[in-house]
Amino acid sequence: MSSSLRARLVGFAFLGLLLAPAGCGGGAGSGDPQVDAASIWSLRCANCHGPEGRGDGPAGRAISPRPRDFSDAAWQRSVSDARIQRVIVEGGAALGLTPTMAPNPDLRGRPEVVDALVRRVRGFAPSEGGEPPGAAPPPR
Ligand code: HEC
Repeated sequence: MSSSLRARLVGFAFLGLLLAPAGCGGGAGSGDPQVDAASIWSLRCANCHGPEGRGDGPAGRAISPRPRDFSDAAWQRSVSDARIQRVIVEGGAALGLTPTMAPNPDLRGRPEVVDALVRRVRGFAPSEGGEPPGAAPPPR
């Protein structure tokens, strides 16, 4: 078996593990979008993306391609909020990224939670050096 195929299989095994809690609505439903986004991040996203969004969660280190580093200022400048929202709700496959980035269909009707997750992803941008986040809003 090629090593890249093996990496992919490991990724899908992790995906199965991760979808189980997501299917039970892991982290949703406190009534406060900020609280829900924080618990969704740690229950669903941090496994792959890492607590600081660096792509170094336990599952993130095992899959290929690895999740990108959200503290990369160039990437932060290159994406719109709308794209981040779409990736979160529809999953990577909908945007030509890897399907390992799973959709979160339960968030479709909860735009305020999706927004709070986008803010969280934006919050991983470096705060010093280069332009401050928001200086050059990316095109929507
Ligand atoms: C099973 C692992 C996994 C989980 C769980 C996961 N992601 Fe991802 N995510 C990925 C991978 C891998 C990529 C990189 C896709 C690529 O570059 O092809 C990605 C990409 C992204 C991107 C960047 C898309 C872009 O434009 O480059 C965002 C934003 C994102 N994920 C947010 C989230 C959020 C928020 C959650 C939790 C609701 C989450 N992800 C859960 C693996 C995961």
